[in-house]
Amino acid sequence: EQAEAFDPDIIVSGYSAYPREVEFDRIQAAADAVDAYHLADIAHITGLVAAGVHQSPVGVADFVTGSTHKTIRAGRGGIIMCDEEYADDIDASVFPGAQGGPLMHNVAGKAVGFAEALEPEFEAYARQVIDNAAALGDRLQEHGFSLVSDGTDNHLVLVDLRESHPDTPGGVAEEALEEIGIVLNKNTVPGETRSAFNPSGIRAGTPALTTRGFDEGACRRVADVIARVVDSPDDDEITREAAAEVEALCADYPLYDGDAAITDIE
Ligand SMILES: Cc1ncc(COP(=O)(O)O)c(C=O)c1O
Repeated sequence: EQAEAFDPDIIVSGYSAYPREVEFDRIQAAADAVDAYHLADIAHITGLVAAGVHQSPVGVADFVTGSTHKTIRAGRGGIIMCDEEYADDIDASVFPGAQGGPLMHNVAGKAVGFAEALEPEFEAYARQVIDNAAALGDRLQEHGFSLVSDGTDNHLVLVDLRESHPDTPGGVAEEALEEIGIVLNKNTVPGETRSAFNPSGIRAGTPALTTRGFDEGACRRVADVIARVVDSPDDDEITREAAAEVEALCADYPLYDGDAAITDIE
């Protein structure tokens, strides 16, 4: 209905804060119905698609763009995939023009990340990312937080603070949490009643925690800390206790510990 109403030349499917599985074939059907191109922007979920834990738009959409450094853990960059008929035009639009000389160190970083993504451990990692997001979201709900769409199918949770914490905009929560070592970001929510600069939600993802080896239990501990701090962002004693808990969690799951992060998941 929307495609027919707008009659677009191109439909873009892909989102920065969407916690559910994207049904690329349905969007393709809408594009086909109005003779529009379909570009699937899988920036966030490239790794989940590569691991086979999210449906793939490759072979469905006309164009697929992805990030190489989010859920797929390679050097920073982008990927464009397309049907053969568009390949020469895409290549010509990238170089010369948008892209200059290659950054060879980053090409190496991408090669290493892609090689890792071909290993069976990467599928285990991607599944754990999703299980961890579910655990984080469930525990936040137990603490009275509202999740947009009431849960998550992927690597992120989007929390709408308006009902549970009407006097705490997302930015206040973001800053209070950053203070104690938890990094997430303020985010608009559907039907936003504040503004894009002062939004009512927070968005949290699990790919980096999972790389450290966090499991569901650890993610529930993270949710407990988030809840305590967002409930009382100005309470110094709670801030001190929460910072100590974050430090303890990080000590339990050190960033650099050989390849233990992946093998722990198995
Ligand atoms: C939907 C979407 N597309 C594209 C991008 C750009 O990604 P990057 O420039 O990090 O590859 C983002 C960033 O988060 C995104 O959310």
